[in-house]
Amino acid sequence: METARFEPRSRLAGSLTPPADKSISHRAAIFGAIADGPTRVVNFLDSDDTRSTLSAVANLGAMVNPEPRDYMPDEFTIEGVGPGGPRSLGRIDVGNAGTLMRLLPGWIAGYEGGLWRMNGDASIRRRPVDRIADPLRLMGAEIETTDGRFPPIRIDGRALHGIEYELPVASAQVKSCLLIAGLRAEGPTTVIEPLATRDHTEVMLEAAGARIERGDGRVTVWPSPNLKLDQVEVPADISSAAFFLVAGSIVPGSEIVLEKIGINPTRTGILSILERMGADIEVQPEVSGSGNAGGGGEPIGRITVRSADLRGTRIEGEEVPLAIDELPLVALAACFAEGQTVIADAEELKRKESDRIAVVVDALAGLGAEIEATEDGMVITGTGSLRGGTVNSHGDHRIAMLGAIAGIASDQGVEVIDMEAASVSYPGFASDLASLS
Ligand code: S3P
Repeated sequence: METARFEPRSRLAGSLTPPADKSISHRAAIFGAIADGPTRVVNFLDSDDTRSTLSAVANLGAMVNPEPRDYMPDEFTIEGVGPGGPRSLGRIDVGNAGTLMRLLPGWIAGYEGGLWRMNGDASIRRRPVDRIADPLRLMGAEIETTDGRFPPIRIDGRALHGIEYELPVASAQVKSCLLIAGLRAEGPTTVIEPLATRDHTEVMLEAAGARIERGDGRVTVWPSPNLKLDQVEVPADISSAAFFLVAGSIVPGSEIVLEKIGINPTRTGILSILERMGADIEVQPEVSGSGNAGGGGEPIGRITVRSADLRGTRIEGEEVPLAIDELPLVALAACFAEGQTVIADAEELKRKESDRIAVVVDALAGLGAEIEATEDGMVITGTGSLRGGTVNSHGDHRIAMLGAIAGIASDQGVEVIDMEAASVSYPGFASDLASLS
């Protein structure tokens, strides 16, 4: 296991383009595979998670050209399998990728005669899949889970029919799974969302010519077997940019420019939270020549962050899904803010790559923070600084990178145990951080 040390830094200046968006890359691979014909993919994320998705769809019959080897080509084509569906049966290894685990069954469960077993690493085997298995069964799917709710799962392909389903938890993965299943089900499939979650699936389905209607917290998809997705250009990931947004805010004297960032409003919760905390953040939306900024209808922009004095805030309700992956970073920013920060309604954090309530509280408390876990979040009392120490990532990419940012903003530096976990979403993170002067 690799241990990396992050020493205190006095200021961070420079500009960078973080790697491609993980959520959109997973979807580009999956929808590229489902589509009838070729999809050109530009700026696909080169990470462990998205490589898992690409090899899963390649094993199911989608042709990727040129094939990624030691490095990801800047652009490639996926020749989708079309309405005939997956061309092979058997085992699918999702590695650490929760999005692959939850989205792919929506595609394959509807193919009669197919039989698949999906499994992943130890972290995946602790993350619930009953949230997709239950509604897929209501559509007619045949799925066996382990201990009633975990991977590995076994899928026996069956003809599906549409349902109307209200999500019991705000989850873009569950919504996406059901919309994908709806593409081949009989009749319409409607997903009702109590709180808005990221809508990259809806945006891509619209671009691919699916019959889809949405509004007022409802999304309906009608059978659309022939998707055509000409090109997907993946914007830079705001969840990766978020590490620099917080670093730039809490390391005095900093100014960082982040380029080509996806600023889909269902992902920008971190911007509004930091702005409410007093952060100095400027967003300049960019419009590409085609009027289709970022490709597939995803808006992009340049974000500039300068250090600022932060104050505590409360995060709850509808803001939670819009910043779900960035809440650990909000906790870090809160350590440097004046007053108290409360994160509530965020029990879902327990079901991420690690239990992100327990792990974040443990990591930041170990560095000297005043932080306590609650049932559905955490409470942080800002002290304006962090002493430093050791953070164990527990194999969770976002915790590894959180530890690094805590280190450069701390008094004594931080040693991160299992830093290589970052490669799940951001293999070049440590060198990008070092590139800031
Ligand atoms: C994702 C949705 C979110 C998020 C995850 C990616 C997606 O998960 O935390 O990192 O790509 O749809 P949930 O759907 O479980 O909330």
